[in-house]
Amino acid sequence: MKQFSTLTDTVRLANGVELPVVGFGTWQSPSGDICRDAVKCALESGYRHIDTASAYGNEESVGEGIRLSGVRREEIFLTTKHWISDRGYDKTIRALEDSLRRLGTDYVDLYLIHWPCVEKVSPDWEAVNLSTWRGFEKLCRDGKIRAIGVSNFLEGQLAPLLRDAEIPPMVNQIEFHPGYTQGETVAYCRAQGIAVEAWSPLGCGKVLSDPTVNAIAAAHGKSAAHVCIRYALQKGVVPLPKSVTPSRIADNAKVFDFALTEEEMDRLDAMPLCGYSGFYPDDAPADVLYG
Ligand code: A2P
Repeated sequence: MKQFSTLTDTVRLANGVELPVVGFGTWQSPSGDICRDAVKCALESGYRHIDTASAYGNEESVGEGIRLSGVRREEIFLTTKHWISDRGYDKTIRALEDSLRRLGTDYVDLYLIHWPCVEKVSPDWEAVNLSTWRGFEKLCRDGKIRAIGVSNFLEGQLAPLLRDAEIPPMVNQIEFHPGYTQGETVAYCRAQGIAVEAWSPLGCGKVLSDPTVNAIAAAHGKSAAHVCIRYALQKGVVPLPKSVTPSRIADNAKVFDFALTEEEMDRLDAMPLCGYSGFYPDDAPADVLYG
């Protein structure tokens, strides 16, 4: 495992862009003061990688938090995501413009297709994903996005995109935490040179009461959240822990003063299904599949 020692250490994406190894998640951070203050607090606590999405409805608040923090835009790695209602080339170009306006910035560091179009939704799912991707490639070439990728793609959706892409996806952001690790997708991405990011690395908080996670945390004098974040890091996956609680935001960053042993990693690997959201790309809830 590469040894990381700070939140601002990076992994290099396929096009040379550097991705900070821990990001700050904002899914379910309500738009307004709560999200704005959480993002400001994260930046004050040393995070330099912020993850949002147009579907979270909080891009304006994320932008405000960034500006209020006083941290210069170019020091921040900012990700947003493209929603399913904006599929296709023209809509994709407009969707990014709308996100940039809401965020109050003229570029994002990473833009992701939030959910793949899948066979169950359309017989033309491959073409739909590719037409969206052509928009991503154009925006990347135009310098409005520094890196491009996908989210919630399995091998079945990634393979045709990799076959037809002119610029291959550099990132796949998936649900990943002890109790739900999507080993096949992670291995496939690794083989293709695609960096993996973990959404809900704490299992939306549900993994934090697990006895195995807590026993390992106690052995190190650390919290269950630290163990989950560290687990992702040691798996080579970039965690994006979310919190709107200032003490937790700061505390979750303290993951560089201990390491999980191989035996502890094995125990975490072997955990039964735990904290799973139920959002499986091929068969996700209707609002994710159909908008
Ligand atoms: P809150 O935002 O109210 O602080 P995930 O990143 O896996 O989606 O998990 C996010 C959930 O975990 C949120 O409900 C968040 O609560 C909670 N959470 C984040 N950090 C901690 C922590 N250190 N201890 C307990 N709960 C946490």
